[in-house]
Amino acid sequence: MNEYRGCNWCQHYRPDGTCLAFHPNPIPLSIVSGKLKHTEPLPKQKNQIVYESAPTHIVYRLDFFREQERQVLEKIEIVEGDITKLDIDAIVNAANESLIAGGGISGAIHRAAGLGLEEECLKLGICHEGSAKITRAYNLPAQWVIHTVGPVWEGGKYNEEQILRNCYSNSLKLAISYGIKTMAFPAISTGMYEFPLDKATDIALNEVKLFLEQDNVIEKVIFVCFERQAYDVYQESLKQAFPLSYIAKPTSLMP
Ligand code: APR
Repeated sequence: MNEYRGCNWCQHYRPDGTCLAFHPNPIPLSIVSGKLKHTEPLPKQKNQIVYESAPTHIVYRLDFFREQERQVLEKIEIVEGDITKLDIDAIVNAANESLIAGGGISGAIHRAAGLGLEEECLKLGICHEGSAKITRAYNLPAQWVIHTVGPVWEGGKYNEEQILRNCYSNSLKLAISYGIKTMAFPAISTGMYEFPLDKATDIALNEVKLFLEQDNVIEKVIFVCFERQAYDVYQESLKQAFPLSYIAKPTSLMP
């Protein structure tokens, strides 16, 4: 048995009062320690926590999840720039249902790829929200373009969050079926479709993380931000999605 200091590692930063020692299936902290239950971040109180005994398996599990997180994190990159310039297996297009050139990123991709892309897109028919289709990339440095149609944000009442999750998971599934190992996503739906950027980046990172935890084929997923502001928001979401990697490992279990 080790001396277990409540939720010393995650420092109670989870607003829902759960303990990251049990990530990714966190349980309420009150159940972990038998006494504690914080429902909001209380970093200043971390030295006032009651000491309790904890089985070594808690420590073991934390190390296990930290290592699992680290392996996934190594495959993720956040960059600022223009997605059409990337020399990579596949780039993802935030498309419209008809897959024809629009404004924003789809316009940029179609312009850079040339007319061949539009011709191939026209043969594919409608792509529904949350789905993904694939074409060659023509004049782009990438090999493939995965077209996915994000939801138009209407306040969150129409399943927009789930549809956005589907965009990421369906694009990744499609990538695997084409042997794609490196791919880049834009911030789907956050332009003309007005999905709130912070919500969208949380969804993007969590969905990709979930996928990479189960999959060993994809080697690199790049999130491409067109603006500095988006880059900063992605970095913040990254910390939330990979908490064990951004929280210092305790040198001792004792205070
Ligand atoms: N590289 C990377 N990101 C880009 C680029 C680019 N070249 N151009 C735009 N972006 C970013 C935007 O800053 C935004 O954050 O891509 C994100 C998505 O913006 P939109 O292109 O507007 O996509 P979306 O919100 O999903 O709306 C889709 O817009 O272009 C039309 O035909 C498209 O109707 C569809 C709608």
